[in-house]
Amino acid sequence: GIKIATIGGGSSYTPELVEGFINRYEELPVRELWLVDIEAGKEKLEIVGNLAKRMIEKAGLPIEVHLTLDRKEALKDADFVTTQFRVGLLEARAKDEQIPLEHGVLGQETNGPGGLFKGLRTIPVILDICRDMEELCPDAWLINFTNPAGMVTEAVLRYSNIDKVVGLCNVPIGMEMGVAQLLGVDHSRIRIDFAGLNHMVYGLDVFVDGVSRKEEVIELISNPENSSFVKNIEGLGWEPEFVRSLNVLTCPYHMYYYKKKDMLEKTQKEAAAEGTRAEVVQKLETELFELYKDETLEQKPPQLEERGGAYYSDAAVRLITSIYTDKRDIQPVNTKNNGAIASIPNDSAVEISSVITKDGPKPIAIGDLPVAVRGLVQEIKSFERLSAEAAVTGDYEKAVLALTINPLTPSDNVAKAIIDDMMEAHKEHLPQF
Ligand code: NAD
Ligand code: G6P
Ligand code: MN
Repeated sequence: GIKIATIGGGSSYTPELVEGFINRYEELPVRELWLVDIEAGKEKLEIVGNLAKRMIEKAGLPIEVHLTLDRKEALKDADFVTTQFRVGLLEARAKDEQIPLEHGVLGQETNGPGGLFKGLRTIPVILDICRDMEELCPDAWLINFTNPAGMVTEAVLRYSNIDKVVGLCNVPIGMEMGVAQLLGVDHSRIRIDFAGLNHMVYGLDVFVDGVSRKEEVIELISNPENSSFVKNIEGLGWEPEFVRSLNVLTCPYHMYYYKKKDMLEKTQKEAAAEGTRAEVVQKLETELFELYKDETLEQKPPQLEERGGAYYSDAAVRLITSIYTDKRDIQPVNTKNNGAIASIPNDSAVEISSVITKDGPKPIAIGDLPVAVRGLVQEIKSFERLSAEAAVTGDYEKAVLALTINPLTPSDNVAKAIIDDMMEAHKEHLPQF
């Protein structure tokens, strides 16, 4: 039978994942699901783990759920390792989102300074997990959901001995669902050709039953109401001239780059009115765990959809299923470029539509990105690489360099000031510095 180990098992997203395993049980007969967490997450692990057990019992499936704080026990002989952990918990995210704002710079979970510091905290932990995997489950696939997913995948490819790694995000699948809704067709009929980086991905073309409908979709997304596809980023709308001449689909995170001023002001206003997104999420999470505690609850509650990670289970479980069954369908994932995008290094992680085989994703070559988007994608890739290098080496100057070249940073002295404040605020989770 298949053994899955899920690191960060106490996440409120776990019922999503469990629902996915239940729905695909026939194709993907999971025998053991090990949910791993740390001491600080013990209570959450218990609550969500017990809900997982009730969901599986209700479905009448022979999947064993194990809850543990012992990562090694969970990893032993695993076939797939999924990761969904948050080093420093939401408290650290709140600092990532608040401190940059005090310097007039966007504070966001995965972009700019927030993305850098989430990476600096997370990369040492993922590399430690990779070392455990080498020893305990060297043939397993690592399916990483932990943010910043692009930077984390880059770090695993460059600095670990684990080759079987795939990074995953719900944004591409969310865009397909959103476009299906805009066009009024079932999502199974939609295919978007994705290429770019995590949270910096473009839809180069959009098909319904194999026929391109890109022009129509571009008209539709130039309507502000249709411009975003995830809960955590509300659409402010694009200038129609801009999206038409860009002539590819943007992802919601592009708002932070092509509407820098508006998005900074919006984030500042929201932080002042209701707190940072971390604080909003903290409230949502408390409500969710109150629901999860109810022993009559046997399914994922609809309130989970208020979180940004909708469709995560679909993305994760369909990926694992296609690797396991050598399905060779097309899915957007974060994987080694291998020449698929000409202007990105072959050995870097890209987010791209790939054929999913038993040997992993085979990215579909696109030639090169359109000239209008190429430069920004390269800049973000350089930021991710330098950030990963800083995370591994603990080189302070490299961290300053990474943040200074980020397009959301106005100047080198601002980068340094933010780094100094954030290094101090996060020091307990940054032992390498
Ligand atoms: P969360 O705050 O609930 O954290 C999940 C669990 O991780 C917690 O129970 C916590 O105790 C545990 N944890 C912390 N450090 C750990 C460690 N060293 N080892 C094992 N477990 C540890 O987080 P969440 O909101 O459920 O999100 C989880 C992760 O998934 C985050 O990194 C988030 O950014 C990411 N995420 C990614 C996407 C995507 O598109 N890739 C979407 C949503 C969330
Ligand atoms: C999106 C992104 C994730 C991100 C999440 C935030 O779905 O793809 O990478 O972590 O939203 O959602 P939250 O509800 O935690 O703000
Ligand atoms: Mn994501």
